[in-house]
Amino acid sequence: MGQGLITRRNVMRGALGAGSAVTLGAAAYALGPSYGEAVGQVWRHVEPSGPVDLPYLAHYATLAANSHNTQPWRFSLEGRRVAIAPDFSRVTPVVDPDHHHLYASLGCAAENLALAAGTAGSAAAIGFSQDGADRVEIDLVDAAPARDPLFEAILERQSTRSDYDGTEIPAADLRAVAGAAQVEGSSLVLVSDKAKIEQVLELAIAANTSQVEDPAFVDELRAWLRFNVSQATNSRDGLYSGCTGNPSLPPWLGQLLFGFFFSAKSENDKLARQMRSSSGLAVFVSERDDKAHWVASGRSCQRFALAATARGLRHAFVNQIVEVEATRRQFAELLGLGDRRPDMILRFGYAQPMPKSLRRPVAKVIV
Ligand SMILES: Cc1cc2nc3c(=O)[nH]c(=O)nc-3n(C[C@H](O)[C@H](O)[C@H](O)COP(=O)(O)O)c2cc1C
Repeated sequence: MGQGLITRRNVMRGALGAGSAVTLGAAAYALGPSYGEAVGQVWRHVEPSGPVDLPYLAHYATLAANSHNTQPWRFSLEGRRVAIAPDFSRVTPVVDPDHHHLYASLGCAAENLALAAGTAGSAAAIGFSQDGADRVEIDLVDAAPARDPLFEAILERQSTRSDYDGTEIPAADLRAVAGAAQVEGSSLVLVSDKAKIEQVLELAIAANTSQVEDPAFVDELRAWLRFNVSQATNSRDGLYSGCTGNPSLPPWLGQLLFGFFFSAKSENDKLARQMRSSSGLAVFVSERDDKAHWVASGRSCQRFALAATARGLRHAFVNQIVEVEATRRQFAELLGLGDRRPDMILRFGYAQPMPKSLRRPVAKVIV
């Protein structure tokens, strides 16, 4: 999906056209201290009160990657079982008509939760409900507290939607990251050959073009955009333009400029630059095309992201291809996946960090 948002250059061009650019541009670059404070409240370590402390576990779970930052989850505790249920009031029906990304997002959260449980003295077994409740269920049993290096990476991980530096990754690091991402029910395909990345890029551009030219897709994306600090800190969800290095703008101006400058050409140019500057792509493939396996791919993806982060690598999702049915099928063919579904695509490489995204308070997601 085109989550790269309006570019800085476009905004400046638009603002200059409007005649008030220079002050607007200069003021707009700063992320106000209130955003920094909100980030500090969200991205911090907390202490568990015991091995089964739901607010503690949910705190770490909510720091996981999730589609459009909708945070489509509700956490509950029954005895020693934590359930993560979908929150269907936070769906994105255009980009995710079958709730695939929603369940993958629950898988990402489950993995963080399991790592936090380990630190608090519980071993976690992650499963998917068998009774049609369609939720992730995590059973906790007593264990010696263990601080996994992936747990340490939770606070550092972020989707970094910038250009990377293209440096090759040491083979041992890549092997370790791929090894950490192993989850039953999902498999990982790494693409680092430049010619193959070009073939994937061709499909990505086709998918991106069809999304950007679909008014329903653009409207849905627009509804989750947060154009300035107060919009972002009020909702604490969605895609804040500051996270991609873009200026903070009054919402009316942000909407206006988005309408003017969000085009297939500008998004495709950016996508090409970003994919070509990445060291490789990681594709997560579910063994079966159902909710339980989408959760498994989400878990694998989150583990990959954490292991990469622990080794100083950045990542960002480039999912356009798998969101458009026609390109998803062509992509499965290109990778020789047969009937299996490619779930998510991450690009990875080296880059400086960007501002972090926000999360809603844990109290809002516990039932
Ligand atoms: C299933 C899934 C699909 C996603 N698709 C995209 C995507 O297509 N483009 C993108 O830029 N980010 C995508 N994301 C990343 C989310 O937007 C991101 O995780 C969220 O905004 C929170 O930001 P963070 O990862 O920096 O914590 C996806 C994440 C998940 C879990």
